[in-house]
Amino acid sequence: MHFQLSEEHLMIRDAARDFAHAELLPGVIERDNAQSFPADAVKKMGELGFMGMMTSPDYQGGGMDTISYALAMEEISKIDASASVVMSVNNSLVCWGLEKFGSEAQKQKYLTRLASGEIIGAFCLSEPEAGSDATSQRTTAIDCGDHYLLNGTKNWITNGNSASVYLVMAQTDVAKGHRGINCLIVEKGMEGFIVGKKEDKLGIRGSDTHSLMFTDVKVPKENRVGEDGFGFKFAMKTLSGGRIGIAAQALGIASGALEFAAKYATERKAFGKAISEHQAIAFKLADMATKVEAARLLVLKAAWLKDQGLNYDKESAMAKLYASEVAMEATVEAVQIHGGYGFVKEYHVERLMRDAKITQIYEGTSEIQRIVISRAILDEMAAM
Ligand code: CAA
Repeated sequence: MHFQLSEEHLMIRDAARDFAHAELLPGVIERDNAQSFPADAVKKMGELGFMGMMTSPDYQGGGMDTISYALAMEEISKIDASASVVMSVNNSLVCWGLEKFGSEAQKQKYLTRLASGEIIGAFCLSEPEAGSDATSQRTTAIDCGDHYLLNGTKNWITNGNSASVYLVMAQTDVAKGHRGINCLIVEKGMEGFIVGKKEDKLGIRGSDTHSLMFTDVKVPKENRVGEDGFGFKFAMKTLSGGRIGIAAQALGIASGALEFAAKYATERKAFGKAISEHQAIAFKLADMATKVEAARLLVLKAAWLKDQGLNYDKESAMAKLYASEVAMEATVEAVQIHGGYGFVKEYHVERLMRDAKITQIYEGTSEIQRIVISRAILDEMAAM
């Protein structure tokens, strides 16, 4: 057992923290209000290596481990979860998926530009009638020899308009069920591909979430990721790692709420002393800190397992489930500690509370995480 971060990990964490304070904090409230995408900040994140952290330097990535990525995600999410979701989808779902399962030509053509942050990517699985039940894909990719003909609609796609490259899951052979699903690389600008309406969201309002429409889009065969029929497994494997990123995002929202609340509680006086000296507040801070630390341990354990090449499906689901619940609890408490100030925008915690909710929904709801966890523990027990 070794619970200490390395010097390198600490440097990466501090670099992400400095970046978040210098580049994301200014304007974060305004971007949330206006629902404006943090385009300049995302460009700088690319320049600093935050958009392809785990990708090999051979493909313009940072060559870092998952622990580094989780640490950076936590720091950036403390300040701006709208920016961190862009980073999370690009790193874990798009770059990792392409590096692990893409062809060399796909890596040269797409991954290098995605990992360097020159362009960003989107991961397109959810549909109007296929959210949690991801095997029920209605989008079709008909095999036409040298290309697929793509038709259908995707919903709630993060980076929906800002992306240049989209990984789209679609059904090629209905009779084969989930084994008939393929993942296709679709480029913005391909004929028949339309970016639909932007969602007006409760939280992460700076990120751009759109529906996407595909009508007879000709996608070359060489844009299929992996073997024919590998698309569903590609999505599941990729989401399993993605859940570490979202768990780290939830952790950041929770630890950000704790930091804001602790600072406010030491400054705000009531009944003749700082409110942090009243047990009612001190106990809240203690409970928040304990849960944040427990969530951090789960996130780092899942990241460590992934770095060791061990199975992390159960642990990433546990980390996401718990960290997202802590994010919700801690942000509600942070608003309560701030009293009336917590209910207005300038103190940040109401935004964190709104942002927290999505961490219990995307990349698999809390209910889906429980399904993944319960199946895994039952399998483990059966194998004993
Ligand atoms: N790794 C590899 N293979 C996996 C896997 C994993 N983690 N999980 C499942 N599979 C395989 C199974 O082995 C099975 O293959 P075989 O039939 O060959 O054995 C196949 O996939 C089907 O698995 P299940 O029978 O378990 O499928 P299921 O229908 O019972 O559903 C589920 C499983 C876990 C509920 C899955 O549907 C799921 O994760 N749903 C949630 C989807 C999700 O997270 N959506 C989020 C959208 S993306 C997003 O939010 C991104 C964003 O923009 C921020």
